[in-house]
Order: sequence, then C-alpha cells, then structure tokens
Amino acid sequence: MLSRTVNCLGPVFTGLLCLSASFGHAATKVESLYQSSCASCHGPTLRGGLGSNLVDKIWKHGASDAEIMANIKQGIAKVGMPAWGKSLSDEEIRGLVIYLHEQEAEAAAADFQTKIDPTNGVFSTDLHKFKLEEVAKGTGTLWSMDFMPDGSILATQKDGKLWRFKDGKRYGPIMATPKVKDDSQGGLLEVQLHPDYAKNGWVYLSYAVDGANGGSMTQVVRGKIKADHWLDQETIFAVPDKYLLKAGYHFGSRFAFQGGYLFFSIGDRGSKEMAQDLTRPNGKIHRIHDDGRIPNDNPFVTTKGAYPSIWSYGHRNPQGLDFDPITGQLWATEHGPRGGDETNIIEPGKNYGWPVITYGMNYDGTPITAETAREGMEQPKHYWVPSIAVCGIDFYTGDKFSKWTNNLIVGSLAKQELHRLVIVDSKVVKDEILMKNQGRIRDVANGPDGYIYVILNPDSGSRQGAIYRLINL
Ligand code: HEC
Repeated sequence: MLSRTVNCLGPVFTGLLCLSASFGHAATKVESLYQSSCASCHGPTLRGGLGSNLVDKIWKHGASDAEIMANIKQGIAKVGMPAWGKSLSDEEIRGLVIYLHEQEAEAAAADFQTKIDPTNGVFSTDLHKFKLEEVAKGTGTLWSMDFMPDGSILATQKDGKLWRFKDGKRYGPIMATPKVKDDSQGGLLEVQLHPDYAKNGWVYLSYAVDGANGGSMTQVVRGKIKADHWLDQETIFAVPDKYLLKAGYHFGSRFAFQGGYLFFSIGDRGSKEMAQDLTRPNGKIHRIHDDGRIPNDNPFVTTKGAYPSIWSYGHRNPQGLDFDPITGQLWATEHGPRGGDETNIIEPGKNYGWPVITYGMNYDGTPITAETAREGMEQPKHYWVPSIAVCGIDFYTGDKFSKWTNNLIVGSLAKQELHRLVIVDSKVVKDEILMKNQGRIRDVANGPDGYIYVILNPDSGSRQGAIYRLINL
C-alpha cells in the first residue's frame, strides 16, 4: 500500500491513474462491511448481542484507535472475538474503526440534543448563557462577513452579491464587483478589510474565477468601496490558465492578515493528489504581501518548479483561518473526508498529509488509507469523528463573554454546530458544543460590540442566509 500511495505523488500525476492503482478490487463500503462481518454478533445497530455493545463508550479491551484496530485485526481469542486480519485489508479495518466512532458519537448526540436545546430562546452552556438575535438577512447563501468602521457589515453572498448592512437594513449589492463562477461550492466567497482599512480603504475578496474553457480557481482581488460602488480593483492573486480546474468544489478561500502579509487557503479542488504536488496552487495555504507580491523568504521560492506563494501543503479544503492573539500562531480548520475534519497549526513549508494520511474515509464509506501518521507529515491538533463540516473560525477577543477569552470559536456546516475550543500550550484541551441545529454556520466573527457574530444558512428551502449575534445574558 505504501509504495502504491507514493506512486501517486509526482508532479505528472493524474487523478484517475492514482485511484485505480490504489485498490486492486472494488472497495467495500464500511456499512455493508459491518453488516456482513460484524452485525451477527454485535447487532445490526451495534448495541450488542453475542458480542459487546460497540457504541456505549466502554472499551474493555482497549480504547485507543490502535488497540481497537489490533482487536479487530488479531481478534480476542479468549472471549471469542474472531481475527479479521486475513479477510479484511488494513484500510477496511481502519474504516471500521472510524465507523465505530461515528456510531458512538451519533448515540451520544441523541442524549446531548436535549441538553443543548434552547429553553425560551436561551442557550445554556458550561460557562455562559446566551440568546441568538438576527442582525441582517441576505437573499441567498451568505458566505463571509467583516465589519466597517462606520458600523456597517460587509457580507458576501455566494451568487456574487456583496451586501452592506447597516442598522438591520440591506444596501447594495455593491455595484461592479468581479464576475464569479457561482457553481456548486464556488462563487463569491471571502471578504475582509485590510487591517489598516481606516488609512488605505482596501477591501479584499476571494472568489471562484470564471476562467478559460470552463475552468476555475480561487482568485483574490482588492478594491475600494465608495457610495456602494466597487472601484480601483487590483488583482492580488490569480493563477495562469493552465492551473484552472473544472471541478466545482474545494475552493478554500479564507483570509488572515499578519504583519503586512495576506495568508489564504485554496482547497484541493477535488484533485486530492495535487495537494502533495508543489507545482500546483491547490491544496495549499499561501502567503503573499498584501499587494500580491511574493515574499522572498517563502519556504519554496527557491524550489525549482514550485508555486512560489505556497506556505504549507497537503490540505484538503481549509475554510477557517485565524491567528492566535496570544502566540501569533496561525490556526486553520479543514474539511476532511468522512471522519477527518481537522484543525492544525500552520507552519511554513510543512506537509499536513492529505491524502497520504488522514483520520477519515470517503463519504460513501469506502476507505482512503489506513495511515493516520507518517514521518515528515504534521498531525492535527484536533479532529472530529464524525465530521461536522468544520468551517469559519475566530479566536474570541471581545469583552462580553469573559470566560471565553482567546478560545477558538468554530462553526460547522453539516452538523450545524458552534464549537468552543480551549487551547493551552498549543494543544486543544476542551471542545464544547455551544449551539446546534440553528443553521449551517459558514462564518464566525468577533463583532466590534464584543458579541460573537455568525452566518447561518438554512439547510434547505430558500437558503436565505442571515447574520445573527450571540448576546450573553
Ligand atoms: C462471532 C462473533 C463476533 C463477530 C462476528 C465479531 N465480533 Fe467483535 N467481539 C465478539 C466478542 C464475543 C467480543 C468480546 C466481548 C466482551 O469482551 O464482552 C468482541 C469484542 C470486540 C471488540 C472489543 C470491544 C471492547 O469492549 O473493547 C471490538 C472493537 C470488536 N469486537 C469489533 C468487531 C468488528 C469490527 C467485527 C466485524 C469485523 C466484529 N467485532 C465481529 C464477537 C464477535
């Protein structure tokens, strides 16, 4: 398996070749694997029979992933648990471990939901109580927001509209913003004001460009907004046509500014092997000067053929990016495959492993790899099984939720959860769910008033997204 995976990595790789080389036989989906091999003893809903309950969080024979993996592979002869190492591949057994954790979490979530439901509109969490208040409403799926000095909120809508909201009223869309490719996950994505906006007036946007021959890629521009018109546009990051890809997903797109640099993410664009290919811009986090120039101390500027703006690589689809206000470290959240959502500390030149190592499997339940770690590849600081579809993040720096200061607030799409991560010495020591099932949380931001703002998009119907704030009680 190892050498076959490595074959996929050269710059000349093509996705199809690699996929067919990885698995000689059609991979079995994890659900059917469980039902055909395990359900007879552990029960069709994993709640036990001849074998034990596998979703009650009791692991008599070892609770770590490595121990569970070994118990399945080698069996536990003295209690009558058969060995599966001869009939199942490591990838399939790894898939089963992920599946067991998913099912364990689903079972726990049923109890948890009653705890997290608001009572008379009040959410009660470990340290604070809050209510949700609607601030503004878009006309489609909202993606990102930022605050202007005059109290306005700028917000992108995926279909290409840039709104300005003030005192609950909607202004715009801002005229003459760039044409975007609103297709699948692409469209108008991130918006952020330059940290020195008050002096220079620059607003940054990222979007899926409507490129040559139906191709697309994440593009970054900056411009100024006067009387709700977009003016003086400059292209900050755009790839040559040969890098455009037709897929409609994994655009990444988040921004974070620090010390005159702009950091931004591009997802793998659905070509996962390209995340390891330094000649490609996709599957990377990039660093450029705020005017688009390439810093001459970027980690791969002198590597022949490498894309010079690359800061880190091996990413699937990072859509959360923020600097820790205390340590100055760059944190990113990244959509993994099923069971592989991650948060990482991003350091220059490092390889975050996708798709060579991952904690997840394919969404259809077929395996990707059994490898979760490898020399020379970074481990996540935290990962979520099942995947919550982790998205926008912000370290909380306001003054309204005093017990959450410097905690990382994390939004999720599919599971519609708002998480609070407590970080001590660069480690995630706690993960609390603050809110659930209120909508898909695309973006999270500190408001100038000290409250936490979130973008919530309904998961069906009109998809009329709205901005809400969490008000502490
Ligand atoms: C012939 C019956 C049988 C089958 C089939 C079977 N198991 Fe088991 N399994 C057992 C028994 C019995 C135990 C031990 C239960 C105990 O100690 O209470 C066990 C234990 C385990 C444990 C350890 C649980 C713990 O508490 O530490 C895991 C994990 C496990 N099985 C997974 C699987 C998986 C995955 C499959 C399918 C690939 C499977 N088993 C198929 C009978 C079976």
